[in-house]
Amino acid sequence: MKLWGGRFSKSTDKSVDDFNSSIRFDSRMYAQDIRGSQAHAKMLGKQGIIPKEDADLIVKTLGEILADIECGKVEFTIDAEDIHMNIETILISRIGDVGKRLHTGRSRNDQVALDGKLYLRDEAEELFAMLIDLQKTILNLAENNLDTIMPGYTHLQKAQPITFSHHIMAYFEMFSRDLSRLADWKKRMNIMPLGSGALAGTTYPLDRDFVAKELEFSDITKNSIDGVSDRDFVCEMAFVLSMIMVHLSRFSEEIILWSSNEFGFVTLDDAYSTGSSIMPQKKNPDIAELARGKSGRVFGSLMGLLTMLKGLPLAYNKDMQEDKEQIFDALDTVKMCLPVFCGMLKTMTINKSAMEKGAKGGFTNATDVADYLVKKGLPFRDAHAVVGKMVAFCLDTDKFIEELSMAEFKDFSPLFDEDIYDAISLETCVNQRKIIGGPAAETMKKIITDYKKSL
Ligand code: ARG
Repeated sequence: MKLWGGRFSKSTDKSVDDFNSSIRFDSRMYAQDIRGSQAHAKMLGKQGIIPKEDADLIVKTLGEILADIECGKVEFTIDAEDIHMNIETILISRIGDVGKRLHTGRSRNDQVALDGKLYLRDEAEELFAMLIDLQKTILNLAENNLDTIMPGYTHLQKAQPITFSHHIMAYFEMFSRDLSRLADWKKRMNIMPLGSGALAGTTYPLDRDFVAKELEFSDITKNSIDGVSDRDFVCEMAFVLSMIMVHLSRFSEEIILWSSNEFGFVTLDDAYSTGSSIMPQKKNPDIAELARGKSGRVFGSLMGLLTMLKGLPLAYNKDMQEDKEQIFDALDTVKMCLPVFCGMLKTMTINKSAMEKGAKGGFTNATDVADYLVKKGLPFRDAHAVVGKMVAFCLDTDKFIEELSMAEFKDFSPLFDEDIYDAISLETCVNQRKIIGGPAAETMKKIITDYKKSL
C-alpha cells in the first residue's frame, strides 16, 4: 500500500504510477532529503514530540541508508513515487514503527521545498568553483597578452586598436557578475521552509530555528503558504545559469570567428577540436559551437519554469514537480560547459602577429588622428571631418594613414607635424589609453594584479 493509501479502495493504475512518479529524476536529491530528515528528526526528539531514542534511531538509520545508497545497495521504486517516500519507505522497512514517526509535523510539500533549496545550494558551490577556475584561466591569458595588439570591433567592423588582454578581461567582468549574482541568489534563497507543513503550518511545537541552524540556513520562512509555493529560487537559479550561458555563448562566437582562416587570431589545440568525416583538412571548433548551442536549452529551462509557475493558485500544486528536470538539465549543461570551455582556453594558441596585422588594417587609428588635431586646437567635429577626408583619400590611393607623407598630411591640415607618426602608431593608440577601463598595458597590469589578489 502507498504511504498515503488509507482512504483509497483501489491501488493506482500502472500508467498513473509511471506518470505521477518523479523518482527517475528526483533520486539525485537523496543526500539532501536525508540531511533534511535527520535535522527534522533530531528536532522532534529534542522537543519531546517523539521519544529521544526514536529520534536517535531514525538519525542513525538514515545515515546507514545514505551509505547504502552511495555504494549502490539501494534500489528505488516507482511505487514509492518520489525520493521522499522512497527513503521513508526504506526507513520504515528497516526500523518499523519508529520510522513511521519521522513524518510528524511535516508534509512532503515543505519537505520538497527544503530538498530543492539544499540541492541547489550544494550545486551552487560547484558553480562558484568552476566560475573561479574560468576566471583564473582568463587572468592568465590576459597577463601574458598585455602587449598583444588586436583590432577592437563595433558592428563587427574594425574600430580601434585594443589588446587581447583588454578584450578577454571583458569576459572576466561578465563572470564576476555571474559570481555576484550567484552569491546574491544564495542570500535570498537561504531561508528554511520546514514547519510550513502542507500549507498551514502545524500544531506541533517545532523548533524551526534549530532546524535552520542545523542545515545552515540564515533564517526561517515567515508565511507557510509561501513557504511551500515559492519556486522563485529555482527560476532565479535558471536565470543565473542562463546569463552564464549568454556569456559563454558570446565568448564561443568570438572563438569560432577568431579560429577561422579569415581571422586566424587563435589556433585551437588538437585536443579541443574535431575533424570532418569527409573533408580531410577540417579542424572544427566544436567545443565553442556546442557551448553556444547549448545556451538554447538552458534558456528553455528558464522559460519552462516561469510558464509552469505563472498560473498556479496557492499553495502546492503537482505542476511544481516539473521544476526538477528543467533546473537539473540547466545545471548539468552549465556544469558540463564550464570546465571543457576552460580547457579549450588554456590550450589555445594566440597568434599575436595575425592580431596585430588585423589591427593595422581598417584605419583603427583614425580616431587618434582626429584627437591629435583636437590637441592642436581644432574642435572635434572639424577634426572628424578632416580625418574622414583623409580616410577617403587613403582608400582611393590604397594607403594607411600612417603611410602618408608629411606634405600629404599638411594638405589636409597645417596643424600636422612630424610628431603625428608617433602619435598614431598602434602602440601609442593603445598605451595612451591609460584611463581606468582602457587597454593601456600599465592600466591592465594594475587591474589584473588587483583581481589576482582578490581571487
Ligand atoms: N514529488 C513531489 C514534487 O516534486 C513532492 C511533493 C509532493 N506533494 C504532494 N502533495 N503530492 O513536487
